[in-house]
Order: sequence, then C-alpha cells, then structure tokens
Amino acid sequence: LEVWDSTIKKGLNLDMTRGKPASEQLDLIKPLLLDTSLAEDYRSEDNTDCRNYGNLDGLSELKRFFAQYLDVTPDNVLIGGNSSLSLMHDTMASLCLFGAANSDGKNHVPWNKDDSKKVKFLCPVPGYDRHFSLCEKFGIEMIPVPLKEDGPDLSIIKPLVATDATVKGIWCVPKYSNPTGIVYSADVIKELAAMPTAANDFRIFWDNAYQAHHLYDRKLTILDVLTECARAGNPDRVFIYGSTSKITFPGAGIAVMASSPNNLKWFKKLLFAQTIGPDKINQLRHIRFLKNMSNLEDLMNKHAAIMRPKFASFSNTVKAFLGPEFTGLFCSEPQGGYFINLTLGDNLSAQKIVSLANQCGLKLTPAGATHPYGKDPDDATIRIAPSMPVLADITKAARIVALCCVIAKRKLDV
Ligand SMILES: Cc1ncc(COP(=O)(O)O)c(C=O)c1O
Repeated sequence: LEVWDSTIKKGLNLDMTRGKPASEQLDLIKPLLLDTSLAEDYRSEDNTDCRNYGNLDGLSELKRFFAQYLDVTPDNVLIGGNSSLSLMHDTMASLCLFGAANSDGKNHVPWNKDDSKKVKFLCPVPGYDRHFSLCEKFGIEMIPVPLKEDGPDLSIIKPLVATDATVKGIWCVPKYSNPTGIVYSADVIKELAAMPTAANDFRIFWDNAYQAHHLYDRKLTILDVLTECARAGNPDRVFIYGSTSKITFPGAGIAVMASSPNNLKWFKKLLFAQTIGPDKINQLRHIRFLKNMSNLEDLMNKHAAIMRPKFASFSNTVKAFLGPEFTGLFCSEPQGGYFINLTLGDNLSAQKIVSLANQCGLKLTPAGATHPYGKDPDDATIRIAPSMPVLADITKAARIVALCCVIAKRKLDV
C-alpha cells in the first residue's frame, strides 16, 4: 500500500490507449516534409501533372511499390487516400448498399437488402476495436472466434461458414496481429482461401496493417492470400488493406487496397462517384521518399530500433515485478506490430486493473475493446500500446500495471 500511495502522489500523466508512433519515429520522416522538389518537378513517370485532377486509382510507380510491399502484382493494386480504415469502411458500405461483385459482372444481393441485422461477420478475438465499431455501425452481427497462435480457430469457422449463408465475412489481421502479435500460418491461410462457404459472396477483410513492421532481425513472412484464393477457385474472396500510417505519418500517409481485377473494377465504380482524383502530390512525395523495398527496409529498421527497447522493457518489468505468484498471467512477446497483449488469469479482472491504472494517471485501452461490442466474456484481456511514450515512462507504466495486479489479487482496499 505504501508503494501505491507513493505512485499516486507522483501523479503520472501517461496515455497508452492507442498505438501511435513516438515523436522520435516521426522525426525519421522529416525529409519527406523538406522535399521541395515537387514545386518544379511535379510530374509522375507517365508525365501526369500531379498538381491536377486524375489517376483515380493512383500513380503507377506507387502501385508497383505497394505491389512489392504486399507481395501481389501491380494490376491488383488500388491506391487510396490517407487511411486504410476508410477503404475498409467504403468496401463494407458498398457491400451493404450495392452488393458484392459477381463473376458475371453483375452484383450479388446487397447485404442490407432485407434485414441488415441478418448479416454476420466472424471476428477473431482478441482483435482490433475499429473493425468491431465498423461492423456495429453497419448493423452487422459479430460472432467472436478464438484467435490461436497460428490464426483464427478453423474448427469453429469452417462448419459455421459452410452451413450459414448469412455469415458473409471475416476480419483478419494476418501479420503481427493487433493486439496479440500472432502471425497466420501457411496452412491457415490456405484453408481460409479454400474453405467452402454457404454464402457465395463471402469476403475476407485482410487487414495487413503491419506487413513491414518487424521488431527483430527475423522478419516473418506470410503466404500471398490473393494467389491462394485464386488457386482455390475463389478469386474474389479477399480484400487486402495496408497503409503507410506507421511507416510515414499516421493521418497523412498513403493507404492501399489489393484485390482481384473484378473486385477492383467494382470498387472503382464507387470511387468514381466519390472523387475526381486522389492526392497525387502526397503520392509523389511518398514514392520519392520511400523509393524502393530496400530503402523501406532501412527505414523500418530505424523504427524498430526505437520501438524494440520499449517492448522489452514493458514485458521484462511486468514479469520481474510480478514473480511466480502470478501463474496465469501471460504477457505476449510479439515479433512485430504495435501491441503487447496481457492475458490476466489468476481471477484478475481487466476492468479492475484498467481502472486502478487510471487512478495512477496511466490511461490504458478500455478493457473489452479487444472484443465485439466491448464485451470480453472473460474480462481477462488488456491491450498495451508501448510505442508512443519515452522508454523511462514505459518502465513506470509497466510497474504500475504490475502494482495494480498485486493490489487486485490481494484484494487490497485502495
Ligand atoms: C490492424 C489495424 N488496421 C488499421 C489501422 C489503421 O490504419 P490506417 O491509419 O491506415 O487507417 C490500425 C491502427 O492502429 C490497425 O492496428
């Protein structure tokens, strides 16, 4: 209790609710802001004047870059605006309002045609809160599915999708998943691509937000899901998303979508009604800054060098502080991405820990955010976002989380 009192007195004011890059990471991108070459040299490789309207689906040099980045071909790539989440939103809106693309060039029945509540989506848990908000917004019923070490639990998914035509899709963060950091295995990817579905307009939202966001030298790769879907006879099954939000600037980066030619044609019809052209000045600035895969790798290594000690400090401090008394507590050790996941066990309540931490001036992602409707049935998951605070504050935050676990476990009255 003495430690608790002194921690409260110190009055920390730390926000670890979201996975934002640290200011030191954003400094790495300064050359992009200092590049004034565009004032004179504003043409893309095909001589497009990037100051003007046009090029609905993006510059070809950027398409080539992202094709390599996502391990697909440039014909499968569409460059979006500043956010992959808004591409996901627009895809979902289109599926609900106009129906998915069909192989005959017409659309399937729109998902909200009869009763939008009837459409269901599989949501691997723990997962990303914004995916869940998106489903909720469109009135899509969410079915939680456990996320295992190699991907979502197929023994639950396969019978569900095979028999229920109202199950229209699944959210996947296949690499360095938010928040557990797991990476999908080749077998899981193949099965997701090939599994029979009762819905003939079943879609996988493949949110590959952390494709290049490795923390260590061992850089994990995943199978190309687009090829697997095509190979299995389901070429239109998957929409892939990515962005430079955690490569350059969140909110001022470039988003990308990759899919079959049929799906891209379908999406571009929506885009055509939505805008006369994207921000090609930002596209040009980005390709001149990012250049190629080898340059990107150097940049991501610099990001990793800043993030790595923070991840290590959080896990090591929590483990050292808690000791063997906490047999059920599991702190994930991701190889990449932006999050650490705490699974509590020991009958500890995540709600309680988050609220105790808040009393100490440490704001954590609300307990339950990792599950559909904000409801974690076990109340046992806490998402930790260690990227933004400075290293010294991460150590303090880890001590506070551990202290809150001790207070909760010993049922101390604070
Ligand atoms: C899995 C995942 N997808 C998407 C996003 C947001 O991406 P964007 O900034 O491109 O909208 C995040 C941000 O934390 C994320 O964790």
